[in-house]
Amino acid sequence: DTETNDFVIDDSVIEHIFKPRSEFSHKGTYGKVTLAAGSYGKIGAAVLSARAALKTGTGLTFTLAPKCGYEILQTSCPEAMFIEGGENHIHRFEIEKDSVAGIGPGLGTDTGTQKALIQFLKDYTKPLVLDADALNILAQDKENIKLIPEKSIITPHPKEFERLFGKQENSFQRLELARNKAKEFQIYIVLKDHHTQVVTPEGRVYYNITGNSGLAKGGSGDILTGIITSLVAQKYSEEQAAILGIWLHGKAADFAAEKYSRESMLPTDVINELGNVFKILE
Ligand code: APR
Ligand code: MG
Repeated sequence: DTETNDFVIDDSVIEHIFKPRSEFSHKGTYGKVTLAAGSYGKIGAAVLSARAALKTGTGLTFTLAPKCGYEILQTSCPEAMFIEGGENHIHRFEIEKDSVAGIGPGLGTDTGTQKALIQFLKDYTKPLVLDADALNILAQDKENIKLIPEKSIITPHPKEFERLFGKQENSFQRLELARNKAKEFQIYIVLKDHHTQVVTPEGRVYYNITGNSGLAKGGSGDILTGIITSLVAQKYSEEQAAILGIWLHGKAADFAAEKYSRESMLPTDVINELGNVFKILE
């Protein structure tokens, strides 16, 4: 019965999920994140995802990126530590110990990156957040999809979803396919769109109603990856992290649109509004 399995993410859902910070805490309380992102010409994707993770409250943030991004990242995100994964593209997925990894923004599909990612996934068993080019690489061979660790969160936009799981007639059919795939692979699928949906391995669907067309700009998705990865590191369950993450992302975008207009707001403004969203939650 699909009706009882579909939920709208309203304020009461968020109030139940959100955990305010405890005064009796330290950086270890809020977990570690590694964002594996960026390639020559797309270091901005690493900057955006790392800054979004920092502004969501992670205890320690690492950016795994190619060497060409070293100065850019150390300057634009001084709070994040740098792990070198290659020269111009990531060729080594050296995830920081005990961190939650978010992989994909601006990665590119260089053959070295492809091989390294597939090899990495063959021995990695902890849940991951996978986005953008990580999904495009997996989509090249359908057998690869089985390498995604159980309970991972994938965040495809409609085109990336289609590359992974095939073309559908309409958004209703896409959602039904997502329900089947989430069950088959035991993963969480965040179907990004105007009203983004989270599909759980049990086949539940949560609809987000925050967000606006000011998000229809390169970089918006990279931010979402940083936010969700940060929430998993802070010990929200994968389901809670996906739901709270898309709501926060959309709400920060609504605040940014209010201040700067949907036309002029930038993904950076969305990151900077996260603080005002946390203020209404606390
Ligand atoms: N209304 C509400 N939300 C929207 C709208 C809209 N009209 N348009 C976009 N969004 C939101 C989506 O829900 C999603 O969270 O903005 C985000 C867009 O994410 P992506 O499509 O991944 O966009 P982007 O950040 O540009 O991706 C960067 O990754 O997917 C690859 O090839 C892509 O190189 C690009 C890179
Ligand atoms: Mg994207």
